[in-house]
Formats: sequence, structure tokens, C-alpha cells
Amino acid sequence: MLASNLFHVGIIGIFMGHFVGMLMPHSWFLALGVSDVSHQYLAVYAGGVFGLMCLAGAAMLFLRRISEPRVKATSRKRDTFVIGWIMVTVTLGLTTVFVSMGHASHGDVSQMLALADYVKSIATLSVDPSLIAGVSPIFKIHMLFGMSVFLIFPFTRLVHVWSVPITYLGRAYQIVRVKKGYMN
Ligand code: HEM
Repeated sequence: MLASNLFHVGIIGIFMGHFVGMLMPHSWFLALGVSDVSHQYLAVYAGGVFGLMCLAGAAMLFLRRISEPRVKATSRKRDTFVIGWIMVTVTLGLTTVFVSMGHASHGDVSQMLALADYVKSIATLSVDPSLIAGVSPIFKIHMLFGMSVFLIFPFTRLVHVWSVPITYLGRAYQIVRVKKGYMN
């Protein structure tokens, strides 16, 4: 339960942060009184906390999937693989925090704005790779892994994200009971 909660709060926080942080128009941030440097620090701190939660939860879920016999027996290789892929992605994301921190401390927001424009160009189907020609390679590697998650996850158990109707948001939390006398 701890692993699941850490992972889900972490990854949903990151998703919301990426969505708002990179897709919300730049002028809206300024209209709300959020300066570019504050935006960058917000991404670093909030993303750092949610990223660490996501990584810790994913690592625990990964270990459970490879070591718990019942879970192992009902897992396909791709289910284990996608958790591993997310762990690599979030680790790369957390590595970008150190680079972003360096930029923010120098008041340099140019790479953050270029990255946001690039992600907007993808979302509007007018992809312009030249926008990120000058950004640090760590961002590019992270985005390669991050975007690959969207290709891989529909073929794994993570497809539950798209379960329709979306009842899992309203239904009671699944109760996980330890079988009496079960040893592992
Ligand atoms: C499972 C998917 C993903 C995970 C777990 C993840 C995780 C993270 C984390 C923890 C950070 C550092 C904190 C932050 O700045 O928010 C980060 C930064 C970043 N991520 Fe992701 N990410 C994912 C997918 C993506 C995708 C699909 C893109 C873009 C196409 C992307 C673009 C970025 C960028 C540009 C930054 C740096 C933001 C900045 O500091 O200016 N990420 N990511």
C-alpha cells in the first residue's frame, strides 16, 4: 500500500506539473504573477519531491513484482519492464533538477522556456526540434525516455490509466490482505 501510494501520488503530481508547467501559455504565468525564475524553482522543488516519491514507490513495486511469488506468477515481462523504464525516466528527470537549479541560480530561464515551447510544438502537432538544439543533452535523453513511456504503457498493465468507465477514481481503495499463515 505504501509503495502504491508513493508511486501514484508521485507520478500524478509529475504529470500535472509537466502538463501545467510546459503546456500552459507563458503569458498566463506572467499574468498570474509567477515570474520565470519562480516557475523554474517551482518545477525544481515540486518536481523533485514528487519525483523522489515516484522513484521510491516504483522501486518498491518493482522489487515486489520480481520477488513476490503470486505477483511474479501473474506478471508478464512487459509489466516488469515498464516499471523499470519509468524508474530510468524519473531518475533522468531528477538528474535534470541539478542542471535546472544551476540555471535558476543564475537567473537563466532560456532553456526552460525553449523546452516548454518544444513540448507545446509537439502537443500542437507542429514539432520543431530546432527549439531545443541548444539545451543540455540530459533534457533530451529524459524526454526520449519520457515520451517512450507513452508508446510502451498501453501494452502493459499500466493501460488501466485509460480504463473506461473511469470507476477506479471513485470506488473504494482495494484492500490488500495477507493470507493467514502465508510465509514469504
Ligand atoms: C513517466 C514519465 C515522466 C516522468 C516520471 C518524469 C519525471 C521528471 C522529473 C522528476 C523531473 C524533474 C523535476 C521537474 O522539473 O519537474 C522532470 C523534468 C523534466 N521533464 Fe519529465 N518526466 C516524464 C515525462 C516527460 C515527458 C514526456 C517530457 C516531454 C516530452 C518531459 C520533459 C521534462 C522536462 C523538459 C523537464 C525539465 C523541466 C525544467 O526544469 O525546466 N518529461 N521530469
